[in-house]
Amino acid sequence: MTWHATVLTLFPEMFPGPLGLSLAGRARDDGLWTLDAHDIRAHGLGRHRNVDDTPFGGGAGMVMRPDVISTAIAAHRPEGDPRPLIYLTPRGRLFSQADAERFASGPGLMLLCGRYEGLDQRIIEASGAEEISIGDYVLSGGEPAALVLLDACLRLLPGVMGGAESAEEESFAGGLLEYPHYTRPAEWDGRPVPPVLLSGDHGAISAWRRAQAEDTTRLRRPDLWAAHLSRRISGRQSPQ
Ligand code: ADE
Repeated sequence: MTWHATVLTLFPEMFPGPLGLSLAGRARDDGLWTLDAHDIRAHGLGRHRNVDDTPFGGGAGMVMRPDVISTAIAAHRPEGDPRPLIYLTPRGRLFSQADAERFASGPGLMLLCGRYEGLDQRIIEASGAEEISIGDYVLSGGEPAALVLLDACLRLLPGVMGGAESAEEESFAGGLLEYPHYTRPAEWDGRPVPPVLLSGDHGAISAWRRAQAEDTTRLRRPDLWAAHLSRRISGRQSPQ
């Protein structure tokens, strides 16, 4: 079944952008997913198609008007559209691999990209949009965040990635960061590949990779490591 993404933005020309290339682009050519991006300004007010105004209470920047956004949503969201409506904002809940898996297993997404100081709070509430952030930094608009979110979902669609990649071995899939990878030459610039990888001993290779994943996660991501330990203690993951 085709997975449908609809994006509402002031910069529809930013889409599909990188998603038209490589893995995602090929999958789109194969009809596995579609993307339509629409200009919010088409629903702007007056001769200048205004979409924003100064904030009540004062302060810097401009706020996108709820009436304009509401009209834009209504124009592209059929009654009973089962797809989640997502508003990309640094105020949102942090996007995770679990979200990507949830979204990829559904019918698609409708994404709302804000510029300026963001959307009037009332349209966020009235539309029931899920507010999502891709990280603790502020982008100049939601568009790059929408591209990131879509990329994470698209690669999970059935048939998009070749059989080579194993979801279980990826970063975050098991709650751990991935182990390091090596290829030929076996020695490069005085740096040998870890000998165990050349041993042909699959048990030893698995154990080494597991230890590497655990050490890297413990050192770089104490938050993920703590979550991993508590899952292990509660027995929610098979011990290795
Ligand atoms: N818009 C601006 N910054 C953002 C972020 N970090 N995540 C999602 N949307 C954004």
